[in-house]
Amino acid sequence: MKPHQTGRVLYSAEQIEARIPQLVEEIEARLKGREFVMIGVLRGSFMFMADLLRAVYHAGLHPQIDFISLSSYGAGTVSSGTVQLTRDTDLELHGRTVLLVDDILDSGRTLAFARSLFLERGAAEVLSCVLLDKTVPRAVELEADFSAFPVDDRFVVGYGLDYNNRYRELPWIAELVF
Ligand code: IMP
Ligand code: MG
Repeated sequence: MKPHQTGRVLYSAEQIEARIPQLVEEIEARLKGREFVMIGVLRGSFMFMADLLRAVYHAGLHPQIDFISLSSYGAGTVSSGTVQLTRDTDLELHGRTVLLVDDILDSGRTLAFARSLFLERGAAEVLSCVLLDKTVPRAVELEADFSAFPVDDRFVVGYGLDYNNRYRELPWIAELVF
């Protein structure tokens, strides 16, 4: 098979591995012992979610876990502007503290959609944690409570992030060169 043609590595596997426990410390400090539910946004968050969960375990935290599938991108690199719910969560969220986990915060629409959905269902609080925070103007008013790394306005892949469902398996985050 042809090797992946990706551009510059922005964050290496080692950098990601080192950053995740720090992120968990920030989360722990903010939650102050409160019980919480971790909800990953599929599919982009799966690798981050798995590593984050191992660090959460080592920090002595034991959240309930669920996933939601949301889609807005289709096959391109520009958000369609509408978010679709394609797989819902199973957990009862009433009165719960939710930690939403996504791969990247870009326009903000995906996280804003999930946040209002969970608040409508009675969640007491919805915090968000993203691997990457794209430093671009948001289409909606939303900032992540926790983010591992900033990234400027470029299309990135790897460590769960895809382009047409490829490159998700890369252990690092690289720029995609078109
Ligand atoms: P938002 O709704 O515009 O904030 O976009 C969030 C979603 O768009 C993320 O969950 C990703 O799936 C996708 N996305 C945004 N930027 C990138 C990128 O650079 N690479 C891969 N996916 C991206
Ligand atoms: Mg996504």
